[in-house]
Amino acid sequence: MVTESRKLAYQLLMHVEAGAYANIKLPQLLKKSNLSKQDRGFVQELAYGTLRMKIQHDALIGEVTEIKKLETSVLNILRMGLHEFLNMRTETHAAVDQAVELCKAEAPKAAGLVNACMRKLSSNAEQWLEELNSGEDKVATFAHPKWIIDALSASREMDTAGDVEALLIENNKSPKPQMVALPPNPLPENSISLPLSEFGFESMDGLDLTNYRYQDQGSQLVTQIAAKAAPNGNWLDMCAGPGGKASLLAAIASQRDSSLTAIELYPKRADMVRHGLKGFANAKVFASDALTFDYQSDYELILIDAPCTGLGALRRKPESRHNKHPGQIQELNEIQRNLLSKASTITAKGGVIAYVTCSPLIEETTSIARWFLDNHPDYEILPWSDYSDISANKNRSTLQLWSDRDNADCMFLALFQKQ
Ligand SMILES: C[S@@+](CC[C@H](N)C(=O)[O-])C[C@H]1O[C@@H](n2cnc3c(N)ncnc32)[C@H](O)[C@@H]1O
Repeated sequence: MVTESRKLAYQLLMHVEAGAYANIKLPQLLKKSNLSKQDRGFVQELAYGTLRMKIQHDALIGEVTEIKKLETSVLNILRMGLHEFLNMRTETHAAVDQAVELCKAEAPKAAGLVNACMRKLSSNAEQWLEELNSGEDKVATFAHPKWIIDALSASREMDTAGDVEALLIENNKSPKPQMVALPPNPLPENSISLPLSEFGFESMDGLDLTNYRYQDQGSQLVTQIAAKAAPNGNWLDMCAGPGGKASLLAAIASQRDSSLTAIELYPKRADMVRHGLKGFANAKVFASDALTFDYQSDYELILIDAPCTGLGALRRKPESRHNKHPGQIQELNEIQRNLLSKASTITAKGGVIAYVTCSPLIEETTSIARWFLDNHPDYEILPWSDYSDISANKNRSTLQLWSDRDNADCMFLALFQKQ
């Protein structure tokens, strides 16, 4: 019999194949199950790992069968089985046995084929993998699409941040969850603090999520730098949903005698922001388009955490590398430029626009910053390193984080001050 946890991991893969987001669907599936904490961890490791390594798995499966002829269900069963014995602690014979059992339950007609493929893979996959790794082609070795490897390489080179391989390897790992203590709450007793954020610590069970939230330390850092660079007064978050940065910003604003207006285009996401900002009397949330919102004042700080490809968070969103394509960048660039142009009309003199992306791609980071400065001569760039002493590239006035170096999402930050 196949175990409940493998069935659940398989279901998640099938939902993701049909368009679901793994990080949203997994909690829904787990909620309906009676699995132990350990088994839940196993489901996540198996499903997320299988999603991340799909390109490599398919290259290996292609050695034993004609992949295009396989049903998605059968292909996912083979990917999972392969992932278990290559990258997890499962014994090879158990991985083969469980793949066959899963196939009997989900796609019984293909059980013989899965048995034959898994046996060939279990004898040869490690050797084929070695051959792959010793070749020039990084796509299957690092399990990333070529256009993403090329785009990340270009950004690494520009930032003199070392070979891209270290980042690609990091993108294939599961990051440990991180948390933030919303000021003025102190870090919890016995917590392990994080180097990038004065409020950050490694996740702990059983905390009151009113005062402590899950948040990557890269997001915490850019929010803190933005707040440090800005004068007190009216602060605005133009792209607030689901509300992680808005909550930290509201908490900092309440220490600084400042207010926060948070805007989010989609009503459901605006509700999430509202939930996060409950209890902050200095904060208001609006479900609206930030480009057409009826602003009642100028702002001392405007945070634009812009829609972007999200290629800086590949560790946490295991399927996203497969869903993105380069054609999306131009459309996102237009949104990014429109948001910045709008912000430029409502920034107070001396106020600061903090442009943030969860992507290191040059087209949505440095190129946009350059475009903004070229077209808005009344703004000057503020060097990030005036507000933080972390060891990133201080020769650049904009900040680029890297998951392998910083144990954070690859966030980008540019600060523009109105003269
Ligand atoms: C990268 S996410 C922001 C993440 C958020 N700052 C956080 O830390 O949780 C970008 C958000 O901007 C929203 N958005 C996109 N265009 C917008 C617009 N014109 N006005 C307001 N919000 C917009 C998207 O719906 C999305 O929720």
